Amino acid sequence: MTAARPRNDTLLRALLRQPVPYTPIWIMRQAGRYLPEYNATRARAGSFLDLCKSPDFCTEVTLQPLARYPLDAAILFSDILTIPDAMGLGLRFAEGEGPRFERPLRDEWEINDLSAPDPHDHLRYVLDAVSQIRKALDGSVPLIGFSGSPFTLACYMIEGRGGTEFERVKTMLYARPDLLHKVLAVNAQAVTAYLNAQVEAGAQTLMIFDTWGGALSAAAYREFSLDYMQRIVAGLIRERDGQRVPVVVFTKGGGLWLEAMADIGADALGLDWTVDLGEARRRVGDRVALQGNLDPSVLFAGPEVVRREAGKVLQSFGSGTGHVFNLGHGISRFTPPENVTALVDSVHTESRARH
Ligand code: CP3
Repeated sequence: MTAARPRNDTLLRALLRQPVPYTPIWIMRQAGRYLPEYNATRARAGSFLDLCKSPDFCTEVTLQPLARYPLDAAILFSDILTIPDAMGLGLRFAEGEGPRFERPLRDEWEINDLSAPDPHDHLRYVLDAVSQIRKALDGSVPLIGFSGSPFTLACYMIEGRGGTEFERVKTMLYARPDLLHKVLAVNAQAVTAYLNAQVEAGAQTLMIFDTWGGALSAAAYREFSLDYMQRIVAGLIRERDGQRVPVVVFTKGGGLWLEAMADIGADALGLDWTVDLGEARRRVGDRVALQGNLDPSVLFAGPEVVRREAGKVLQSFGSGTGHVFNLGHGISRFTPPENVTALVDSVHTESRARH
């Protein structure tokens, strides 16, 4: 694939703390159930997993939010649980219950047998989606690739489902840390290979979702989540076609540990809504850019409230580059789509005076 920055490269520039004319915005889960067109495509695909496994459908839904809103990036439509599925754990999505694994890691031999899947083999469908989406974007906005963090993936692989209090993972963490380290080492290897394959297929920036790292103690976070993300970051392709490939690390609930997170070699940190953006900026200094952090629930109120609250986030960050506007977590399925129109417009308009 030939080089060329996307025509709208504000996302890449802001992540690298280069000057931008306005603050770029994209939205976690921007292609999702709050959009009627997404629900229609998902119904045609059959199920969420069928949708994820079809590059044509993935391309279609990835582009849907961009057709509605002038967003500054596309994010690959997929899920973080594709890796454990490719490891043979048997992913299912039961309607209204979230993800389930048919064969979660329960016995020591299962952990000893675990190995990192070759992304070109078992995750070919994701790589095909990446190259197809990149082609369809035709140099308009950058394409974000992503993966779960080793610890967050381990939570699902060991618990077998979401929505638990992490009884099994935390029992293993304290009773058999050697076993958890084995799982995490395999996951880190799998994530590194998977993200690099996404870059080779056309992803222009990468995000690591550590949704459950914030459930750990400070010491356990470093040992069982942050260290493995650091290993991944060290193994990633950071330049492709003469362009830097920025890496964003997001630990939900990681607000207390931003200084440590800023030191692992990532270009930017994702922030949830519990931290003050300006304070976070002062704490990390010029080491990393910041992405976030509007409370997704703000989008339940009307356009006026959305504009006011978005303005507070912009004001909290202050002037200059190094901020990518986003929500502090995924957009809710109950969000009225017109409130997103107000959000994107107000961020684009209100931020100009700060650059
Ligand atoms: O941001 C995007 O638009 C890209 C797509 C994306 C999805 N999942 C699509 C999805 C991304 C980046 C993810 C990441 C993901 N998946 C995470 C990390 C980010 C986070 O939200 O913390 C996690 C923990 C998962 C695992 C997962 N996938 C869960 C817990 C669920 C159920 C959630 C729910 O609201 O029911 C999913 C399903 C899922 N992944 C949906 C979408 C659009 C909804 C599926 C549907 O259409 O029924």
